[in-house]
Amino acid sequence: MSKKTILSGIQATGNLTLGNYLGAINNWKKMQEEYECNYMIADLHTLTIRNDPEKLRNNTLDLLALYIAAGIDPEKSNIFIQSQVAAHAELAWILNCYTYMGELSRMTQFKDKSTKHADNINSGLFTYPVLMAADILLYQADLVPVGEDQKQHVELTRNIAERFNKIYGDTFKIPEPYIHGVGARVMGLQDPTSKMSKSSTIPNDSIFLNDEPDVILKKFKKAVTDSENIVRYDKEKKPGISNLISIYSAITGESKEEIENKFESKGYGDFKVAVAECVIEELKPLQNKYNELKNNPDYLEKLYINGAERAKKIAKSTLKDVYEKVGLVW
Ligand code: TYM
Repeated sequence: MSKKTILSGIQATGNLTLGNYLGAINNWKKMQEEYECNYMIADLHTLTIRNDPEKLRNNTLDLLALYIAAGIDPEKSNIFIQSQVAAHAELAWILNCYTYMGELSRMTQFKDKSTKHADNINSGLFTYPVLMAADILLYQADLVPVGEDQKQHVELTRNIAERFNKIYGDTFKIPEPYIHGVGARVMGLQDPTSKMSKSSTIPNDSIFLNDEPDVILKKFKKAVTDSENIVRYDKEKKPGISNLISIYSAITGESKEEIENKFESKGYGDFKVAVAECVIEELKPLQNKYNELKNNPDYLEKLYINGAERAKKIAKSTLKDVYEKVGLVW
């Protein structure tokens, strides 16, 4: 039986968080043996907010280095930069014509982002999930490994694909979101009722993948908890400590019950240090490798050129089928 196909991506906005790592990249690494993996750097998506062009270029290459540093193996997985495969933007246009304004208006990320960037609610922000649908459908992906916050976009992708297939016959594989357990929604350390985010403006709320060990320790020590001082998972009543338990569990593989037992006689102070230490240990090899790769731009260039070539071949075959089906002379 042939391997199932995966596609996923991260926006090239810099400053990746522990949430991006536990919700996405760390799972991608594990999926490489079993699946045909396509991992892209979503640079086109980042244009929905204003960027400094030089920064965007750097962030894109940094993210590529980070994928490799985190264990995504270019021999096993197809790694590429979204904008280098023109079919993404081309299919997005077609799919825009099969997506309703009402559907896009219901996207929670659009609502959030248009509140945050009230001075720049551009139409790219509105049609952002259609570009994401094009990313996924071009590769005929079976599964889309993402964190909880992207589930709604994958569901919209399914609806668009089903609608298209109904009109033109089998064209797109219908993808499933693949949302992996404990790390799927890492919350902020200061506001554990909101997801940990790259763009959080609250100090010490997010752990960034390039944070130094002493910074990580400090942030965990300051994490908001409750006054009970008992390490027990209760997402409703104890969101702060529950988030720390989830992080510890996602990294060590220990279950929530095992963690509760292990720290039964310990207070929050000890537990916070233990969580910080496991995060520091987990990120250390990634940070070392990342620093090495950043000094090797030639290697990175070779990687993205090869990746784009491979991706173009797959994407072109789906796009050709779509163009022919809708009646374009191509
Ligand atoms: P982005 O760049 O916001 O996030 C990248 C991945 O990280 C996950 N994530 C989290 N997981 C757990 N806890 C958190 N606090 C947390 N924050 C972020 C996200 O769910 C995501 O998996 N539109 C996408 C990028 C994209 C894409 C695609 C993804 C573009 N095309 C095609 C999949 C398939 C985005 O903005 O993710």
